[in-house]
Amino acid sequence: MIEMQEVYKKYPNGVSAINGIDVRINQGEFVYVVGPSGAGKSTFIKMMYREEVPTSGTITLNGVNVAKLKNTKVPQFRRQLGVVFQDFKLLPTLTVYENVAFALEVIEAQPKYIKKRVMEVLDLVNLKHKARMLPTELSGGEQQRVSIARSIVNSPKVVIADEPTGNLDPDTSWEIMKIFEEINNRGTTVVMATHNKEIVNTIKHRVIAIEGGKIARDEQRGEYGYEN
Ligand SMILES: Nc1ncnc2c1ncn2[C@@H]1O[C@H](COP(=O)(O)OP(=O)(O)OP(=O)(O)O)[C@@H](O)[C@H]1O
Ligand SMILES: [Mg+2]
Repeated sequence: MIEMQEVYKKYPNGVSAINGIDVRINQGEFVYVVGPSGAGKSTFIKMMYREEVPTSGTITLNGVNVAKLKNTKVPQFRRQLGVVFQDFKLLPTLTVYENVAFALEVIEAQPKYIKKRVMEVLDLVNLKHKARMLPTELSGGEQQRVSIARSIVNSPKVVIADEPTGNLDPDTSWEIMKIFEEINNRGTTVVMATHNKEIVNTIKHRVIAIEGGKIARDEQRGEYGYEN
């Protein structure tokens, strides 16, 4: 469960990105975060995984008070989340397999388990056959599938994605969405910021629209609601 209470975020340069947000997202929900450019979507999402700290208010994620978390506790906290970015953020010198295994190696999982689990998630994203390749040898869609595999290898309860299809063509975007659907169908909460009108209006889920750092709409099976 993710809960925000009276959350505000003002950046050091004086920009007020989030201006009073109260929201609750239950375990297993799929939520699209939509809104105009600069509305505060990324800031909203970044506060969930403690990339940014709110100026005031409380954020609770699976019982952890995220805003109050000490810096030393952040890596441990992040392990219960999967995060997917628009630009993939894969480690360029590591193979597909190694990029995904990395998250399990840092928690010192058993080597036998690592192998089994990495191949399992690569299978889920249909990339078992490319396990030995480097990210530069893959298409954008394949790289995003690796980053999704990496995000779920720890079996997190929540996956947070900021415009995961932003750099991909329409066909590839649908492929990526199928994977997120599959992850959600297995019980994982998905929170996804997106500008993809087609996807939001076709694969219906809860839509939270942010405008000027506030929630302008929050609808079950909502519409994208903007022109692009
Ligand atoms: N690190 C930062 N320092 C200062 N201001 C920032 C920072 N990051 C974002 N902002 C500002 O905060 C506001 C919200 O930005 P945010 O990135 O959350 O918007 P967004 O809805 O994700 O936009 P987009 O759709 O373009 O990704 C904008 O005015 C932006 O310029
Ligand atoms: Mg953004």
